[in-house]
Amino acid sequence: MKKILVVNPKGGSGKSTLATNLASYYALWNVPVALCDLDPQQSSLEWLKQRPENLNPIIGVEGTPGRFSVPGEVQRAVVDAPARTTQAQMQRLFEQCDEVIIPVLPSPIDIRAAGHFVGELLLDNMLKKSRTGLVANRVREHTLIYSNLEAFLNKLRIPLITHLRDTQNYIRAAERGYGIFEMPPYLVDRDVDNWRPLIQWVEKDHKA
Ligand SMILES: Nc1ncnc2c1ncn2[C@@H]1O[C@H](COP(=O)(O)OP(=O)(O)OP(=O)(O)O)[C@@H](O)[C@H]1O
Ligand SMILES: [Mg+2]
Repeated sequence: MKKILVVNPKGGSGKSTLATNLASYYALWNVPVALCDLDPQQSSLEWLKQRPENLNPIIGVEGTPGRFSVPGEVQRAVVDAPARTTQAQMQRLFEQCDEVIIPVLPSPIDIRAAGHFVGELLLDNMLKKSRTGLVANRVREHTLIYSNLEAFLNKLRIPLITHLRDTQNYIRAAERGYGIFEMPPYLVDRDVDNWRPLIQWVEKDHKA
């Protein structure tokens, strides 16, 4: 089983959006998948409640950053972390998970906050660079702010795996308990393209 942590202490960066969409990708391909919601806001579990029964199942797991357990039959567990955790909880989460995805919004405040977060991880020796990747979220391409984000992320020497467009498609899908992959292809083909590098990265054997 592989556990994939989606984390960023900055609120609203897209953790639940990434976690729910990644879980739905595995569901679509019939991979037994759990979505572990460690946030008291329970955005991911709320999304799961909306999910129509005719779509492939995702096992919802309620937990806390200190404690969550994944059913044995699961092959992929996607972990939606809360914005607020203690340093000890964060450390434990990083130890427990195989891959870490950090979504970052392309705004100066979010870029600086991500810099602090990554700096703390480095200080605490938690950051295993080979299995931590950033995703630029809600990106409007060809904007100056996106170039700033790209330049900053490159400096951190953590891979910028992909960027996801700022689009109502995520909101429309989320309302119905769908993932972007389960929407009509003509609507979402650009978004599905954005996801390809992320899926490839997550599925790579980072321990090799
Ligand atoms: N790529 C995107 N395009 C458009 N809207 C998006 C995108 N990503 C996220 N959103 C919207 O931004 C808001 C915040 O996203 P989300 O809830 O995923 O962030 P979060 O990091 O989980 O927040 P929190 O820290 O509160 O848990 C939501 O309304 C979501 O629908
Ligand atoms: Mg969330």
